[in-house]
Amino acid sequence: MSGSHGQILICRNIDEVLQEAASGIIDAAQNTIASEGVFTLALSGGSTPRALYQLLAAPPFADEAPWQQIQIFWGDERHVAPDHQDSNYRMAREALLDHIPIPPENVHRMLSELPNAGAAAITYADEIHRTFGLEPGELPRFDLILLGMGEDGHTASLFPHSPALAERTALVVANPVSKLNTTRLTLTLPVINNAARVWFLISGGAKAEMLKIVLEGSEHSDEYPSQLIAPTDGDLVWLLDAPAAAQLSPNLRQSAVAGLG
Ligand code: 6PG
Repeated sequence: MSGSHGQILICRNIDEVLQEAASGIIDAAQNTIASEGVFTLALSGGSTPRALYQLLAAPPFADEAPWQQIQIFWGDERHVAPDHQDSNYRMAREALLDHIPIPPENVHRMLSELPNAGAAAITYADEIHRTFGLEPGELPRFDLILLGMGEDGHTASLFPHSPALAERTALVVANPVSKLNTTRLTLTLPVINNAARVWFLISGGAKAEMLKIVLEGSEHSDEYPSQLIAPTDGDLVWLLDAPAAAQLSPNLRQSAVAGLG
């Protein structure tokens, strides 16, 4: 399916989703680096992507990826120390970064240990500005941003009814998430929607009902923030396994693409 919601790719199971994603990341990185010399990748957190990162950390993908020219960022982070069990950085470090020859200076984690989450957000925005060489007010254009979707329709740390949904200027914000009684750090919608590629990786029947609402329901983006992801000049792809796609309408399922290529 290529339409207002981008492309939908339905795989039989999570293993196929991960293989498609890993191959797609390597292909995108190799092609982008061939023309631009660098590939900027923002990782998602949660549990789904851990297996993807482990896949990328092993042959054949680990040997194919031009890690020296890949710049790694995070789409969001919990307001915890980098060695905390909930840290998205820790998860990616254990699953991927500790196993690949990526230069430390290519890894741009959020300073989520700072007591003031707002200061951590500003610091990360400065890191993005510096790494991308942005002019004041200029948006970064990530080559690929990976996203997941929660059962409540959140993505990154853009949670329903949270203040970050309205942010149109800052690149990164500290977003209070009342239902979790915590503050999260997240890239904002202007940044995500300015990416060249945004790929959702969504797996499992528990996401099926929300995915149908997000893709086929009426617009209630404050309730379902994943509906706000709409790259202005980039490719949006929904990488789904069959259980997650189970409630999508037949016409949407029939128009799904066969691969990322
Ligand atoms: C996080 C993620 C979050 C995640 C969704 C889905 O920090 O938790 O960035 O947005 O992608 O909660 O998580 P799963 O894919 O693990 O269900």
